[in-house]
Amino acid sequence: MTPATNIQDKPNGKAPRETVTITDNRTGKQYEIPITDGTIRAMDLRQIKVNDDDFGMMTYDPALMNTAATRSSITYIDGDKGILRYRGYPIEQLAEQSNYLETAYLILNGELPTPAQYKDWEYRIIHRTFLHENVKVLMQAFRYDAHPMGMFISTVAALSTYYPESSDIHDPENRLKQIIRLIAKTPTIAAFSYRHTRGLLYVYPDNDLSYTGNFLRMLDMMTQSKYEPDPVKTRALDVLFILHADHEQNCGTNAMRAIGSSHVDPYSAMAGAAAALYGPLHGGANEEVLRMLTQIGNIKNVPDFIERVKKGEGRLMGFGHRVYKNYDPRAKIIKRTADEVFKVTGVNPLLEIALELERIALQDEYFVKRKLYPNVDFYSGLIYQAMGFPVTFFPVLFAIPRTVGWLAQWQEMLNDPEQKIARPRQIYTGSAQRDYVPLAAR
Ligand code: SDX
Repeated sequence: MTPATNIQDKPNGKAPRETVTITDNRTGKQYEIPITDGTIRAMDLRQIKVNDDDFGMMTYDPALMNTAATRSSITYIDGDKGILRYRGYPIEQLAEQSNYLETAYLILNGELPTPAQYKDWEYRIIHRTFLHENVKVLMQAFRYDAHPMGMFISTVAALSTYYPESSDIHDPENRLKQIIRLIAKTPTIAAFSYRHTRGLLYVYPDNDLSYTGNFLRMLDMMTQSKYEPDPVKTRALDVLFILHADHEQNCGTNAMRAIGSSHVDPYSAMAGAAAALYGPLHGGANEEVLRMLTQIGNIKNVPDFIERVKKGEGRLMGFGHRVYKNYDPRAKIIKRTADEVFKVTGVNPLLEIALELERIALQDEYFVKRKLYPNVDFYSGLIYQAMGFPVTFFPVLFAIPRTVGWLAQWQEMLNDPEQKIARPRQIYTGSAQRDYVPLAAR
């Protein structure tokens, strides 16, 4: 905590530049608070008191709209300029030239791998894709129509019971082992949940295929003696996984960090992060976008739908973002990827409705004033549906690639000497002290 000083004690009565001077008009006292990285430490406000019994000043910031909760070197977003970089590399270049496993290595380790490092990394992931046979039994207990995201969250949490050593979160080697297990096994969990809802036999991983090729095989393999994943769909999925891999302090990552700050194992923490992602305002939005487009049904219904949104009767799902006040750079890349996929699958008939919604929204004052642009979820669902995925599976397709982002952020939190168990304060608005009244007397 920086001790309060009176401005008058400063030479020529002026405070140094990198500070704010706060005058508490209740006491007339002035406080000089240092500015670091464009922020002030909330704890530096606690010295502002009206008397010695005063707890001291706090900030009030519901939903953490204007609060940096951590320092991070993983992902950089400029919401006004629509910039997204993983470890300094622009998302456009990674989507164009990299693949998901290489990007996952970059996000986790901070540097692109050498050929030898990549070979070792890929080998370690590909050879950890199997699930314990008992996990299959656990998954078979779900109802036939269980939501795949509910199955995903539950199964990730259950994995903590198969790897009890994962609770030793302070051992870097042990952490890496669990991180590799989670990156490797989430496609298998997802594929098993998909096959469960279809009433089909589970397909085991094929280590001869790429990360996304193996995933497609576990989803689609039927009677083929040798399943060859479609190269266009495999590449499209790889690009989509790159785009969804991390996004700094989003709701799911905030959950990962908060749960992880109690020093619980990474499986339990990640189940919580996935639960946050499941919400329709977050990663569940891609599912809601398709429901919205289906409900609109025809391009001639778009103007009426837009008017209802402007009256507050619902939201234009897939639009808007807490950080991006410009076009989400991921949405631009996804739109281009959709064109590639549609050449193989045929154009999704809902595309014309989506394009008309975007055309109108980008020129309508209601959306322009609120800086509402398409986000990552607006077009991704159109690709997933064209590739044959059921709408309920869309949040799972978000959670698989986000696994590395959650784990990289979790590990950064554990290694950050400034971090402690997350425990926000509150403004109490309840009753003052009152005495218990026995039941007979009420
Ligand atoms: C993701 O944080 C991340 O990085 C998340 C993510 C990631 O990679 O992890 O990018 C992934 O979650 C993308 C967002 C997916 N969600 C949706 O598409 C759901 C629809 N969008 C919204 O509900 C909303 O835009 C949020 C939740 C994304 C952001 O909400 P904010 O920042 O809390 O903004 P807000 O709700 O306070 O809205 C501000 C104004 C309000 O109007 P007024 O009260 O000022 O009149 O904009 C309006 C809102 O009503 N508004 C919308 C709208 N989004 C905001 N109006 C219509 N349609 C929308 N989609």
